[in-house]
Amino acid sequence: MLSWQQIKGDFPLLINKGKNLIFLDNAATTQKPKQVIDAIVDYYTNWNSNVRRGIYRLSEEATDHYEKSRENISNFIGSSDPRQLAFVRNTTEALNLLAYSMGHNLHEGDEILLTIMEHHSNIVPWQFLQEKGVKLKFADINEDGTLDMEDFRNKLTRKTKVVSVTHCSNLLGTINDAAELAKLAHDNGSLFILDGAQSVPHMPVDVEKLDCDFLAFSGHKMLGPMGIGVLYGKYDLLNGLPPFNGGGEMISQVYTDHSTYADAPEKFEAGTPNVEGAIGLSAAVDYLRNIGMDEVRSHEKDLISYTLKKEEEHHIDILKSYGPRDMEKRGGIYTFNLGEFNPLSMSEGLINEQIRVGSNVHPHDVATGLDSSNVAVRAGHHCAMPLTHRLNVVATSRASYYIYNSREDVDLLFESLEKIRRLYA
Ligand code: ALA
Repeated sequence: MLSWQQIKGDFPLLINKGKNLIFLDNAATTQKPKQVIDAIVDYYTNWNSNVRRGIYRLSEEATDHYEKSRENISNFIGSSDPRQLAFVRNTTEALNLLAYSMGHNLHEGDEILLTIMEHHSNIVPWQFLQEKGVKLKFADINEDGTLDMEDFRNKLTRKTKVVSVTHCSNLLGTINDAAELAKLAHDNGSLFILDGAQSVPHMPVDVEKLDCDFLAFSGHKMLGPMGIGVLYGKYDLLNGLPPFNGGGEMISQVYTDHSTYADAPEKFEAGTPNVEGAIGLSAAVDYLRNIGMDEVRSHEKDLISYTLKKEEEHHIDILKSYGPRDMEKRGGIYTFNLGEFNPLSMSEGLINEQIRVGSNVHPHDVATGLDSSNVAVRAGHHCAMPLTHRLNVVATSRASYYIYNSREDVDLLFESLEKIRRLYA
């Protein structure tokens, strides 16, 4: 059995901050272990040069490190061919790439099926296609925060060309049954995109077992550096897409009036790529693989079960939390409010009155209060405004866990919430 305390010892920032930081904002970004930092320093100390274009040894070595990183990350997500992975900046860029490139083959009347639990990265890029008459549909959620499968099935029609769904909601923590959704999409003749931003870092994800056509995820949410992300696509589908950015290295031949393009993945990697990012992400993947993704998932399951137990024990009268209570369907995300923080009370001008009598604490005040106890959480709409509105609130606070968090962190979260409640009583 791994010692999670020992794991924390690998993270220089967490060591430096000590008791001054209980970091519970891992859905936004994660801290970096020294193994990842060392890999980046090693790259700049020993291998730095541009890739794919140098005829000299150093450039060949850098290219080799870059391509080995692709291979390693490809194995990590169960892809049998590294050419199926294009390096991009992040999940957002991967989804923008897909919406833009797929948009060439989408026409007026075609439909794209999303869910109401998507974050903005899996909504806004598709909205750009509304200009050409493409229609967006959103499958709803059930009261418990799980996906309403009946609504999903009803909204999947012969006009649905693309289904794009989050694997794990960044707000509710809901884990969607990706294999089942992929099957429904494929039986309907639709392409299936999985947004893995909140799943690839936290649980085993195997693209071939899930049978997703495309998968998007970010490095910085899984111990890697910022500015590196991955777009996976089944090779023929990925290679069949038109390019997104034009420039060096994505071409085959360039003439003054037109160009021909390289095959995937180069086709989608115009310009000098983020070599440092790819190497850092590969080191992050090694680190996670060494722990084991099943272990990561069990640890977070333990933390979220413990959180719900503490919630019952503390019984803070105005605390309301969101998301499934079934731990099989729930990632390590705990979103909550102190009070009924809904738009109705705002529009009726009741908020100030309610704050005065202590029945509402604005999520920003909750986060500031927690920060004064050294607990870092996110507050606001979490880049998921449609879902926030669907929950009939204007904002929420969110604690999100990762491998270096412990039950003690959860204890501290609730002790601090109690303090805040007393303050507003
Ligand atoms: N989508 C990221 C989050 O949930 C930024 O915080």
